[in-house]
Amino acid sequence: MSRHHYSGDALIEVLHTAQELYGFLSPGLLKSIARKLRLPPSRVLGVATFYHFFSLKPKGEHTFVVCLGTACYVAGAPNVLTALEHRSTKAGTTTADGKVSVDGARCIGSCGLAPAVIYNGRILARVTPESISKELDRIGVE
Ligand code: FES
Repeated sequence: MSRHHYSGDALIEVLHTAQELYGFLSPGLLKSIARKLRLPPSRVLGVATFYHFFSLKPKGEHTFVVCLGTACYVAGAPNVLTALEHRSTKAGTTTADGKVSVDGARCIGSCGLAPAVIYNGRILARVTPESISKELDRIGVE
């Protein structure tokens, strides 16, 4: 925040850095950011909940974000999400052991790679239920 001179215009950059440092954006952290940037807490919360890459809850060791935008949806993303949920947990949640988090998102800007999944921050292209299942095998999800 000091690097950005505590400017409210740097809110997104500050939220990114805070999430990198702490893993997720807790209510206390959001309040602190709002106070230090002199922004209404509702604005900070609104930005944090608008963008899919910000998380208000702790994430699992492995994170999967299945794109459900139009191109990915048509190319089979719902089948990928179903396969993932069947082996791990429902979208928007983390497994009880903290190993896997699953989320859905609207277009992630990689439509040419549809169906696309962001896995641990990296984009996987042309994902199938079989390829996602192999990845779950690889990380030891039963
Ligand atoms: S619709 Fe999935 S990347 Fe655009």
